[in-house]
Amino acid sequence: MTAEVIYGKELAQSLRDDMKEEVEALRLKGIIPGLTVVLIGDDPASKSYVKGKQKASDYVGVASELIELPSSTSQEELLTLIDELNSKTTVNGILVQLPLPAHIDEQMIIEAISPEKDVDGFHPVSIGRMMTGKDTFYPCTPYGIIQMLKSKQIDIEGKHAVIIGRSNIVGKPVGQLLLGENATVTYCHSRTKDMAKFIADADILIVAVGIAHFINGDHIKEGAVVIDVGVNRVEDGSLTGDVDFESAKEKAGFITPVPKGVGPMTITMLMHNTIKSAKKANGLL
Ligand code: GUN
Repeated sequence: MTAEVIYGKELAQSLRDDMKEEVEALRLKGIIPGLTVVLIGDDPASKSYVKGKQKASDYVGVASELIELPSSTSQEELLTLIDELNSKTTVNGILVQLPLPAHIDEQMIIEAISPEKDVDGFHPVSIGRMMTGKDTFYPCTPYGIIQMLKSKQIDIEGKHAVIIGRSNIVGKPVGQLLLGENATVTYCHSRTKDMAKFIADADILIVAVGIAHFINGDHIKEGAVVIDVGVNRVEDGSLTGDVDFESAKEKAGFITPVPKGVGPMTITMLMHNTIKSAKKANGLL
């Protein structure tokens, strides 16, 4: 079997085109969705992600503001800034780029952001609402993955979804969203015994470990749906995923590439959440 490749980049583009129209219509009503991104320090990967967010905002018509602060910024200074952004009516979404410098308590920062502006979906209120099946802001990468599966009419109900990786940003929430779609969910992680057994049984395999080519075609079930969330920079400077695409493609039913796979969907769902927040703030939802 040769897999059908799910190009997140193409889906992202068509969703962004729809959003652009929606934002134009909102502008006619005097509503301009606003996103503020806070970047602390000069981590090159974070800088590059933030650039992608600015570009997407410009494209769909979201008014985005980037606040760049030095890595010496104190926790108090950051909390004060978040307070200001929480009360600013032109700001519908607040995104503090992670990771933060070690002297700042990441969880405290996440919890300081108003749940109404939590377009990352990382606040405990957002997570709790997601887990109980209530409407909320879903974390962008997991939400993007669900959209990719749905775009190909992939049946999730009753399927065995195996998640490798248990981060708060991807692994844990994507499992919850798949559970919400009636999948049977297994979480695997670095302490899992006999992980190969779970991987070989997966109908839907989500790989988010950050290790280049952690999975290859020999590991997976014939016809499996393989979603690669990894972004690993390899020796020649290029990006590669957690899955060995070439071998896995020969056995999977569907597979996502890296780059042009999940990545572009993450930022697209951030735009979705920001627009949704603006609509809510203006009584349209
Ligand atoms: N760092 C890596 N991914 C993300 C994300 O989705 N949101 C934020 N705020 N930081 C990140």
